[in-house]
Amino acid sequence: MKRQAIVAANWKMNGSLPLIKEMISGLNSVKLAENVNVVVCPSTPFLSAFALNAKNENLQANIHLGAQNVSEHKSGAYTGEVSTDMLNEVFVNYVIVGHSERRSIYKETSTQVAHKVKAVLNAGLTPILCIGESENERTSEQTDTVLASQLQPVIDVIGIEKFIDVVIAYEPVWAIGTGKTASPEMAQATHLFIRQFLANANELIANKVPLLYGGSVNAANCEELFAQTDIDGGLIGGASLKVDEFKIICSSAKGS
Ligand code: PGA
Repeated sequence: MKRQAIVAANWKMNGSLPLIKEMISGLNSVKLAENVNVVVCPSTPFLSAFALNAKNENLQANIHLGAQNVSEHKSGAYTGEVSTDMLNEVFVNYVIVGHSERRSIYKETSTQVAHKVKAVLNAGLTPILCIGESENERTSEQTDTVLASQLQPVIDVIGIEKFIDVVIAYEPVWAIGTGKTASPEMAQATHLFIRQFLANANELIANKVPLLYGGSVNAANCEELFAQTDIDGGLIGGASLKVDEFKIICSSAKGS
């Protein structure tokens, strides 16, 4: 089954205008394999600057701009929030939705996340839907139940057919920013569970959804992770702030 690979950079609340420029010129020289797309998700104030610099530098077409969050509401009295229409205006193509930091620190529920996914799709953007279990949930063998409970509300709200335009990032919470990566075998087994869970609703769609792995991915471990059958790229935090390291990660990805 042919699937595109995606490497997405989640800068979180880090980065600067100089880093935007450095990243764009760095990425313009990276050799990407066929069927690989790269997405850079800086903080909201830098989105326009990325779009402008990317245009001026003639950034290669398979490198895209992403946001880290969005409101599920269309517009109105939601101080501090950003709408999908606004993201569209500044040339954003992808939106990270339901990152574990949004779920744990900002108390986003799986239902709210599902409505955000719906809003993103309605605006013609691509959601990168994040799911993942905590360390406790992994050790008490609840991983599958937790992932199912995060996926099902999205299936209920948008319908399985719409997953053809969704990217999923599996990020075990215990691996995020900790240097503890899931082993390639563990990551592959969990990705297979996710694909089978989607396949129960629609096998054709399930086989087409790019499943990214995230959690302490770096230049040293990306190759082995990306070589797994059901791992179609990665969502990269810390290592995406270092241009040279991120370039290595991007060039390790292979579309199937
Ligand atoms: P990390 O973050 O690569 O720094 O672990 C990944 C993420 O939170 O998306």
